Amino acid sequence: MTVDNSKQDSHRVAVSGDVEVSTYLEIAEERRGEQPQAEPEERFGAEREAVVIVDFGSQYSWLIARRVRECRVYCEIVPHDAPWENVAPLEPKGFILSGGPGSVYEPERPQAPAYVYEQRLPVLGICYGMQLIAHQLGGKVARGTKHEYGLAVLHQNSVDTPLFAGLPSEMPVWMSHGDRIEEMPPGFTSLAYTDNSPIAAMGNEQGVIGLQFHPEVAHTPQGKNILQNFLYNICGCSGTWTPGSFVAESIERIREQVGEGKVICALSGGVDSAVVATLMHRAVGDQLTCIFVDTGLLRREEGERINNTFQKNMRMNFIHVDASDRFLEKLKGVIDPEEKRHIIGEEFVKVFEEEAAKIGRVDFLAQGTLYPDVIESALSGSRVAATIKTHHNVGGLPSVMKLSLVEPLRYLFKDEVREVGLELGLPEEMVYRQPFPGPGLAIRIIGEVTRERLEIVRGADWIVMSEIKNAGLYRQLWQSFAVLTPVQSVGVMGDSRTYGYMVALRAVTSEDAMTADWARLPYELLARISNRIVNEVPEVNRVVYDISSKPPSTIEWE
Ligand code: XMP
Repeated sequence: MTVDNSKQDSHRVAVSGDVEVSTYLEIAEERRGEQPQAEPEERFGAEREAVVIVDFGSQYSWLIARRVRECRVYCEIVPHDAPWENVAPLEPKGFILSGGPGSVYEPERPQAPAYVYEQRLPVLGICYGMQLIAHQLGGKVARGTKHEYGLAVLHQNSVDTPLFAGLPSEMPVWMSHGDRIEEMPPGFTSLAYTDNSPIAAMGNEQGVIGLQFHPEVAHTPQGKNILQNFLYNICGCSGTWTPGSFVAESIERIREQVGEGKVICALSGGVDSAVVATLMHRAVGDQLTCIFVDTGLLRREEGERINNTFQKNMRMNFIHVDASDRFLEKLKGVIDPEEKRHIIGEEFVKVFEEEAAKIGRVDFLAQGTLYPDVIESALSGSRVAATIKTHHNVGGLPSVMKLSLVEPLRYLFKDEVREVGLELGLPEEMVYRQPFPGPGLAIRIIGEVTRERLEIVRGADWIVMSEIKNAGLYRQLWQSFAVLTPVQSVGVMGDSRTYGYMVALRAVTSEDAMTADWARLPYELLARISNRIVNEVPEVNRVVYDISSKPPSTIEWE
């Protein structure tokens, strides 16, 4: 045990019998009225409320954070060994202890830090988190002889539990655990059971709750309601985290950080850089200069769209560099995909540096780092189970420029960035753009990149994109695009023999690009796309559809 029990006993309220609903609600009511003691680091809406998710190496920690944010409550994930000084500025209204691999009895297994219990705040332990609560507060966890994995039916013990308010007395939940609670800690009462887990949910009067199942996964259909009940009914949150509150707060914070300084920002056409640039512009106006490096590897009309949005509509200090000749020159004769990436990345940095140097003194670089990357790097050191993430990034910006970073999106998930983009008035087309790789069309041309081949793939891509949009499928697909293969084949057009290129059509569904499945597009749509490509792009006489998933294939062909 890492927790000093003598300290805990002084503030734990020992109860026997059922948890009293009124006590929960009174505590929640009290907490709503509490005023913050110190000025916290301002990361969220004007009426600050946050919960802290303590990570024990679960693959689902980020999903817990997603669900909490969906309930409009700000949250951050911290490693299990985060010191209180790092957590205190958030002024948490509660803690959530994530799941994690292994058993609380294994040596070296992470424990919850003492402050989780000492702050007298509500705590929700999920799976391993629940077992920790039992283990650390004086209960008994039995090593499971068999693993319980999959769907189970949860039966509530009482109809009055605020955690299950408004929910049916029986509901399906997703289990994935080995160990189970044999004896609850003093003061706890069982809230629900399943066939295999006599104590599937437990709680005490102080709002310390354990759940053996995973409320954060989609397989627990009412899981979000359970989390929301914890946040609203037990922690006393009211859901103040909105895109509007984020924008207002961010603008203040950016102004504080930047002062009179000058900022540069690279625009790529993607939603992250677009939102960063717009937020920065709202905050510091002409102190910001945006640089758009046109590599010549973009899709049709993409450059014009960026110019229109940022230069014409927003009237930013905007530098559009047409560097397509330089990139094409460097890519001459190159067929290896990794070499293409390397060349494009290096050239991008050079062009960017040259342009930035022309501006004169610059103090800050604004970047669109998102929360998943922050979680990844913050947790990787303390993680018991490291997440494997392949990342081939090009267009990374120069580290030699010695600029301070401004990262206004570093606590946002991708879909929150989209909401903020809409709040800022960015066009839907930009906000919901499918991901597009940094090396652009260069990795969608198998073999050497030439001006002629770029035009061919651009023409095919344009048709794919417009047909997918017309069919109303654009947002449902993770990505949909054309790949120009080096294969040439014989065809017939009218009475003539042709010898043209083969284009591959790729459309995938995915959650995060780590895995993907090929999209079951309707035959009629495939037929229309194929027909249009062979008719409108003269160099192409054959279209194939890629029906491979990732793994073993990847999304891009290179
Ligand atoms: P793969 O092809 O590895 O792609 O399944 C996964 C996701 O990453 C994108 N991708 C890239 N993005 N630079 C990027 O910025 C790259 O070099 C790169 N390669 C692939 C790809 O479009 C997909 O969304």
